[in-house]
Amino acid sequence: MEKTFHIQTFGCQMNERDSETLAGMLIQKGYTETPVRAQADIIIVNTCSVRDNADKRFFGTLGQIKKIKEQNPELITAVCGCMMQQQHIVDTVKSKYPWVDLVFGTHNIHEFPRLLENIENEKKKLVAVWEDGGEIVEGLPSERRYPFKSFVNIMYGCNNFCTYCIVPYTRGRERSRKPSEIRKEAEALVKDGVKEITLLGQNVNSYRGSEDADSDSYMDFSDLLRMLNGIPGLERIRFMTSHPKDLSERLIQAYGDCEKLCRHIHLPVQSGSSRILKEMNRRYGKEEYLDLVRRLREAVPDIAITTDIIVGFPGETEEDFSETLDLVKKAGFDSAFTFLYSIRKGTPAAEYENQIPEEIKHERFNRLVDAVNEISASKNREMVGKVADVLAEGQSKNDPTINTGRTSGHKLVNFKGKPGITGQIVKVKITGSNTFSLVGEQEE
Ligand code: 5AD
Ligand code: SF4
Repeated sequence: MEKTFHIQTFGCQMNERDSETLAGMLIQKGYTETPVRAQADIIIVNTCSVRDNADKRFFGTLGQIKKIKEQNPELITAVCGCMMQQQHIVDTVKSKYPWVDLVFGTHNIHEFPRLLENIENEKKKLVAVWEDGGEIVEGLPSERRYPFKSFVNIMYGCNNFCTYCIVPYTRGRERSRKPSEIRKEAEALVKDGVKEITLLGQNVNSYRGSEDADSDSYMDFSDLLRMLNGIPGLERIRFMTSHPKDLSERLIQAYGDCEKLCRHIHLPVQSGSSRILKEMNRRYGKEEYLDLVRRLREAVPDIAITTDIIVGFPGETEEDFSETLDLVKKAGFDSAFTFLYSIRKGTPAAEYENQIPEEIKHERFNRLVDAVNEISASKNREMVGKVADVLAEGQSKNDPTINTGRTSGHKLVNFKGKPGITGQIVKVKITGSNTFSLVGEQEE
């Protein structure tokens, strides 16, 4: 019988990418993936410390896994990801969840095959979490979720220390991959059928890649985009996430120079109040952000701009919140991820005394979502009648003429198309719109 594994992934694209690496390693060891968690020989939970209620959901998941292990004592259970970079979480797992066999962190994913062998051979429990990220480890295997699109990490970690955010503590300091390694990976992906790559980093604008650590010469993010734009066969380049404070004029110009660069930017604003932005340590104000939006739209008129917004940061007044609503209207976001501020143990804002009561947070959140959705719907309506290039990503199981895909601006489109177009970029006439998606028909 072939041995099987199941990976449950919480959180962001970074974590998804890490799970692809873990899957690649297990496949190399002869395991196959199963969608049925209860039947797996290995269960891995890749955790997130950012998303809402992450702790509760994680410990809930461990409770479910306990039951599976009671049925199958041979099961190997592993937990990894951002939460494991927090000492208090590791301590809790060790003391209260003895059915977890292996704990490792974000910095030592490359050690996983060796750690697993230890568990398989010695049946001992193992906690191996590296505190800091050392050298970037290249050449790890990976099992991609889609044949025609892929994530590519360009840097790891974050130096920004926004006061609400746990990432600098769980992902360590910024480290950029070498341009040649990124190029090699992108070229290999294209050879393997990939049309679209999404470059990943917590703050891609501060990419600083050099071939030789001792030399002063380096590539910045826009240089990297220009280099990747030259790879034959690659059709689309996306990236996330951008920090407004580091968004350079050179990057704005790259949209003009790189035809493969998708007409989209995800540019988290977090708040519309300059006072709160200062408290968040974001290092830009409301007007500077709006100025960036104006410059982006001037240079790239059809650009789609999306964002992240937090409501209820400690000390946020009704006046601060109305600045956020005002910014949302002025910026005209195509869509926004909205978050209720929640305390992350170990961050400065967790210690602030003026925390906002839950009911006020929720009430503001609802008003914000209404404002954001109204603008998304109207932005989508503007697309009706236009023809968009859409990467076809899959077909409905019941009706193969119904496809789903994404425009260059990252808008989801459900459209009628010829069968067998998955993985191709096709022309789609937009015939209708909703708040979160477009409707269309493939052009002949
Ligand atoms: N509370 C609420 N939202 C948060 N985010 C990060 N930390 C917190 C927190 N403590 C949001 C930010 C970030 C996104 C990935 O998660 O908006 O951009
Ligand atoms: Fe967190 Fe700020 Fe770094 Fe983004 S830039 S990962 S919000 S600290």
